[in-house]
Amino acid sequence: MSAITITGGKPLHGSVRVQGSKNSVLPILAATILCGGPCEIHNCPGLLDVDTSVRILRHLGCEAARAPAGTVAADTAGMGRFDIPESLMREMRSSVVFLGAILSRAGEAVMSQPGGCDLGPRPIDLHIAALRQMGAEIREEGGFLYCKAPKLTGCDIHLSFPSVGATENIMLAAARADGTTRVFNAAKEPEIEDLQAFLNAMGGRVTGAGSSTVIIEGVGQLSGAGHAVIPDRIAAATLLTAAASAGGDVEVTGTRPEDLATVMSVLEKAGCGITQNGDAVRLRRDGALRPMGRVRTMPHPGFPTDAQAPVMAAACRAEGVTMFSERIFESRYGHVGELLRMGADIQVDGHVAVVRGVPKLYGAGVCATDLRGGAALAVAALGAEGETELTGLQHIDRGYERFAEVLASLGAEIKRR
Ligand code: UD1
Repeated sequence: MSAITITGGKPLHGSVRVQGSKNSVLPILAATILCGGPCEIHNCPGLLDVDTSVRILRHLGCEAARAPAGTVAADTAGMGRFDIPESLMREMRSSVVFLGAILSRAGEAVMSQPGGCDLGPRPIDLHIAALRQMGAEIREEGGFLYCKAPKLTGCDIHLSFPSVGATENIMLAAARADGTTRVFNAAKEPEIEDLQAFLNAMGGRVTGAGSSTVIIEGVGQLSGAGHAVIPDRIAAATLLTAAASAGGDVEVTGTRPEDLATVMSVLEKAGCGITQNGDAVRLRRDGALRPMGRVRTMPHPGFPTDAQAPVMAAACRAEGVTMFSERIFESRYGHVGELLRMGADIQVDGHVAVVRGVPKLYGAGVCATDLRGGAALAVAALGAEGETELTGLQHIDRGYERFAEVLASLGAEIKRR
């Protein structure tokens, strides 16, 4: 069993470049299916989820391989299947974004319900309703989806919630559909803009990403293209919270600071000094952390749910009370039980978690229960007294490239074995 050991109490210092975005690269790799030709995707992070996407492409009959220096080369000309095996679907939630792309390319698709982090029920009803509206016939039976769409037709789709995955799936299904699709109440996350940029690089006609209405004019043909994915705003936020927790002076480069605005404002409220210089964000913390008030997770541009757990880990040692309100997922406090083992004082009541700062956290044996919750335990451990042994690394490896090495490069006393 792999584990990371962290000896807390050492401030972090130095500069580190943030990885490419996990949540961008996955729908972009699915989008390569639409062109039936060669694509080069740059700035791909080295993650288990990227490997899973590459394995899905290969299973479908496409050529896909990770080259050194963060490029995935995919040639989807040879795609000869339209199914995804259950084992690959279970590995990550994002496997569901292959649905829109496979349906568009092959006219049919078979896959099981997706897996991914356990954050409470994660239905895909919005994806399915939208694809049905575009003309797909979808049968749900025994945990599998059997989909047929000899023709997909553009239409107006009003999402009842700005779901990131549903917006992406619709964009993928609509890029080559007959006519124009308009998505109202679309997700506004930066990853939607990145998908738009890649679809347009392939010859697509997509506008509006980043606003609440995305318009996709279907085009008959797309062609292979190159694209570099945007920086990972959640990995950047995690590094900044790590510095807030451990103290010190850390610069994260290669970011888009505008994507980090809400996280930076919460960390500033906690008393951290934050400065921006081009694509670099620098965080300095020497005094004690102050409480952060009320932190409510919301769809972009609100405070990201993915940053809730790492920020909570830092809040555990603030001098006062911070209140978290999780509004995106039913059950996203899996990390709380583990933080309690380290001496945190947190009370959860439904969607709300009240964190009363304690003077010290103590190293303990803890286990990651999900991706961001796992990273949060490392953030807490960096500011704790003594040694923490963190297991459950398969969750962390899904989303953080060389997690322990990156923190070690900033001076953390951290080892993976
Ligand atoms: C994406 C991100 C994830 C992030 C989340 C919210 C990827 C790979 N993952 O996940 O890191 O935490 O956005 O920013 O990009 N919902 C439904 N029905 C649906 C779809 C969603 O009820 O058909 C609900 C979900 O259960 C959840 C909420 O909507 O409560 C948000 O989900 P969604 O925005 O779709 O998140 P994901 O795309 O799964």
